[in-house]
Amino acid sequence: MGHNLTAVQGRRYNAAIDPKINNDRADPGPVTDLSIISRGDSVMKAIQMHKTGTVDVLNYEDVQTPAPGKGQVLVKVVSASVNFADVMVRKGTYPFMPPLPATPGLECSGVVEAVGEGVTGLRPGQPVVLLGEKCYAEYVVAETASVTPIPEGLDMDEAAAVIVNYATAYHMLHTMGQIQPGQTLLIHAAAGGVGTAVIQLAKEAGAKVIGLTSSREKVAYTVQQGIDYIVNHRTDNVVKRIMEITYKKGVDLVLNSVAGDTFARDLEVLAPFGNIIWFGFAAGPPEGNLAEQLGTHFGKSVGIRTFVIYTVAQSAPELMAQSLDRLFAQLAAKKIRPHIHGRMPLSEAARAHEFLESGAVMGKLILKP
Ligand SMILES: NC(=O)c1ccc[n+]([C@@H]2O[C@H](COP(=O)([O-])OP(=O)(O)OC[C@H]3O[C@@H](n4cnc5c(N)ncnc54)[C@H](OP(=O)(O)O)[C@@H]3O)[C@@H](O)[C@H]2O)c1
Repeated sequence: MGHNLTAVQGRRYNAAIDPKINNDRADPGPVTDLSIISRGDSVMKAIQMHKTGTVDVLNYEDVQTPAPGKGQVLVKVVSASVNFADVMVRKGTYPFMPPLPATPGLECSGVVEAVGEGVTGLRPGQPVVLLGEKCYAEYVVAETASVTPIPEGLDMDEAAAVIVNYATAYHMLHTMGQIQPGQTLLIHAAAGGVGTAVIQLAKEAGAKVIGLTSSREKVAYTVQQGIDYIVNHRTDNVVKRIMEITYKKGVDLVLNSVAGDTFARDLEVLAPFGNIIWFGFAAGPPEGNLAEQLGTHFGKSVGIRTFVIYTVAQSAPELMAQSLDRLFAQLAAKKIRPHIHGRMPLSEAARAHEFLESGAVMGKLILKP
């Protein structure tokens, strides 16, 4: 959030050129002055945090409705995603902190309300999703490059759950992990938002998926999502179980959003030439001496890599756009199915954070302004 998110998706996704999903919507062309509406003098509801800390810092306040500037659009938010990153922003532990006071929220679905000067290809009334900032609000302003038009008629809650979870899963599996049919992967927090997306996309890619989770309810959920094996990291001997499942070979790829003390165990279960992709800090920064831990497994020729979706959005925008083309076509065709665990009013953002932090959420939580 504090870094430049305006550069995300350098090529805006154009559903009009995707024959699979939206043949009937032509590019609306340049807008007329009449469609440039300023809402800058009106008031809206938004979550504002004036300091970092516990959920009490998430205030539901009246703030000025933003107005779109040159090259920007104003989006009326329909569904704002709750991501673990928002929790870290609230706590002040996110690597990319916004200045305070801040409105959290990295992604949402909504409808274009107004467009700023020079905007082409987006028009008021168009359904969109965006990856940006300040989405815990009734309205949000975004650069056009961070806004993706979506087909009419999509479930807006599901659409709001696609960019962060599914694009992250897609690029870890394919762009980074080069997953091949028949390979085996291990996903931490398998019942979460990213976990659900990883299960669905990895099964589609022909991989064998082993997951880690912490409760019987989540075990049942991941089985419903199509996982091959699920291991309870609280009650099972994780290394023993994974080596049994893989006939002592180990896994080809580990997707780790937890870190803390988990790398030592991941390295144990990694097959020769295997890779760990580290993409989150749910249990805090890695503990222990990482070089020493890696050195213990030197003979397996393994690697630990980092991943953050903003690298794709900012450094490979064409790849980001291609993946979103594909993912929204799959959503329209019901080939991917984001699981919406629950919907809460925007005013209850604090309760939503409490719920996500409790570890009880399966799939995605959505805030409704
Ligand atoms: N790098 C990126 O681009 C990127 C993009 C999206 C998300 N992420 C990261 O991916 C992770 C998953 O995101 P999400 O929004 O889908 O959240 P989530 O998985 O729905 O929620 C977090 C889950 O992490 C697990 N967990 C394990 N140890 C934990 C601990 N000490 N404290 C809290 N949770 C712990 C819990 O699952 P179990 O009970 O099953 O163990 C918990 O439900 C987050 O860490 C997020 O920051 C990174």
